[in-house]
Amino acid sequence: MTTLTHNYKRVYVWSLVVRFFHWTTAFSTIILIITGFIIADPPAIDQNVEAANSYWFGYVRAIHLITAFILVAVVIFRIYWAFVGNRFANWRNFIPFNSKGLSNIWHVIKVDILLMPDKDHNLSDISIGHNYLAAFSYFLMTILFFLQAATGFALMSQTSDFWFTESFSWVLKLFGGDILTRYIHHFSTWLFMTFVVIHVYLVLYHDYVEGRGEASSMISGYKFVRAERFDFYNNKKKKAEKKLKEKSEKKDK
Ligand code: HEM
Ligand code: HEM
Repeated sequence: MTTLTHNYKRVYVWSLVVRFFHWTTAFSTIILIITGFIIADPPAIDQNVEAANSYWFGYVRAIHLITAFILVAVVIFRIYWAFVGNRFANWRNFIPFNSKGLSNIWHVIKVDILLMPDKDHNLSDISIGHNYLAAFSYFLMTILFFLQAATGFALMSQTSDFWFTESFSWVLKLFGGDILTRYIHHFSTWLFMTFVVIHVYLVLYHDYVEGRGEASSMISGYKFVRAERFDFYNNKKKKAEKKLKEKSEKKDK
């Protein structure tokens, strides 16, 4: 069987920093989910060892907390990178409240989710970096992550007198104690898991349907983009730069 292929260009979209952030986030999230569920429901292991000599639960908790600090650090760094990184890493991609973003979201819902035919075939509907719906889901997950970190540090403040974790003790007061705080931390874990399942499914779906190297792009950094889409983007960029230059020349006069 043969399929029609277009003329593709190999475009470098995910910088090393973004890829490092991605895989650190992915592995840390998996570790936090596993250790979190062990903390939530510790298996009663019948052991012939004095409790004081068996510290396995302490290690599970330590792994959870160390991983949590690593994840907080990489997320903060990624936010910084959203202001200094390349255009595909820029914060503007993640906040779609403009006509371009909203129309791209509508296109993704129609064509990718509801599987309706793409009658218009607009070149601008093909995303080079993130599509706006995916990027918006990362934005929402970042907000959820801050809630998870705040409730996590608040739970930690009960057993630690480190000034940083203590500074989150107000979260316990806000939720009326550690029971609700713990429930919120637990419930958000299910939201993280839902995100991971949908995210990995959609990455593999796009990889299979579009054949643009979506899944491997987070390893190599490269995606394949139709040449005419890339030229369309370059022409637009040149026009915008020209306009900007003319504007600043006018101002100088
Ligand atoms: C980001 C910073 C985070 C911090 C500081 C943190 C900290 C904590 C602490 C202190 C506990 C309670 C430990 C205990 O009672 O011994 C806990 C429990 C838990 N954590 Fe985290 N955590 C964080 C992120 C996450 C993430 C991202 C997930 C999952 C995606 C997660 C899942 C869980 C679960 C399921 C529990 C058990 C909750 C329960 O008792 O029902 N945590 N975490
Ligand atoms: C726990 C698992 C995972 C988590 C938490 C996660 C999280 C994320 C996040 C936060 C981003 C945005 C990256 C950025 O712009 O800085 C992203 C993008 C991406 N991820 Fe994952 N990821 C996970 C698993 C995977 C896996 C297994 C694959 C590959 C098969 C994958 C492939 C991708 C790709 C290709 C993108 C860019 C797609 C797009 O344009 O929206 N991810 N992921």
